[in-house]
Amino acid sequence: MGSDRLIRIVALISGRGSNLKAIIDAIASGQIDGRIVAVVSSSPDAPGLAFARESNIPAVVLEKRPYTDPEEYGDAMAELIEPYCPDLIVTAGFMYLLRGRFLERYHGKIMNIHPTLLPAFPGAHPHRDVLRYGAKISGCTVHFVDDGIDSGPIILQEAVPVLPDDDEETLAMRVLHVEHRLFPLAIRLFAQGRLRIEGRKVRILG
Ligand code: GRF
Repeated sequence: MGSDRLIRIVALISGRGSNLKAIIDAIASGQIDGRIVAVVSSSPDAPGLAFARESNIPAVVLEKRPYTDPEEYGDAMAELIEPYCPDLIVTAGFMYLLRGRFLERYHGKIMNIHPTLLPAFPGAHPHRDVLRYGAKISGCTVHFVDDGIDSGPIILQEAVPVLPDDDEETLAMRVLHVEHRLFPLAIRLFAQGRLRIEGRKVRILG
């Protein structure tokens, strides 16, 4: 894959979709040699679906509820996105773990953003955990997805201060502001063919 063609991106979301919007905007302003060929939401009510619709990106819903087994949900997701031939799948506020066969099928092609400096504070309540712990620095991490929880090879990270009077909302907003820059940047590097996974490390070429 090189910069001679546009990569095909599928975005998975579950909610607000502000990272999706940041990626859409970065593509529109020519920062990423790619296009979003589909957005899949795990919820029909995700506000982020509106960003897809207003940009004429095909938007589909695949709810988790009917699937008791994460592997089966992953199979259904793989079947759904296969026709879009994605070069890259980005999970942007997507709430569910994709396991097993899905990960094997798209190994090295799934990117997630997590709003802490991993490996600190993985999981579903990162800002709460940061504040309870009393950490003074948080941040965000873009990483490739592996079969753990927020544990795959790290692509980019940036630190964000935790302020003495922060609550979950103020901290989340400060971090989100940085996420909106970092996620598009990581996708840009991928689209340029500049990311090489070497074991746990991601080497940025050039
Ligand atoms: C972001 O903070 C992201 O890091 C986390 O969930 C949040 C999603 O926000 N995984 P949005 O839906 O992109 O606005």
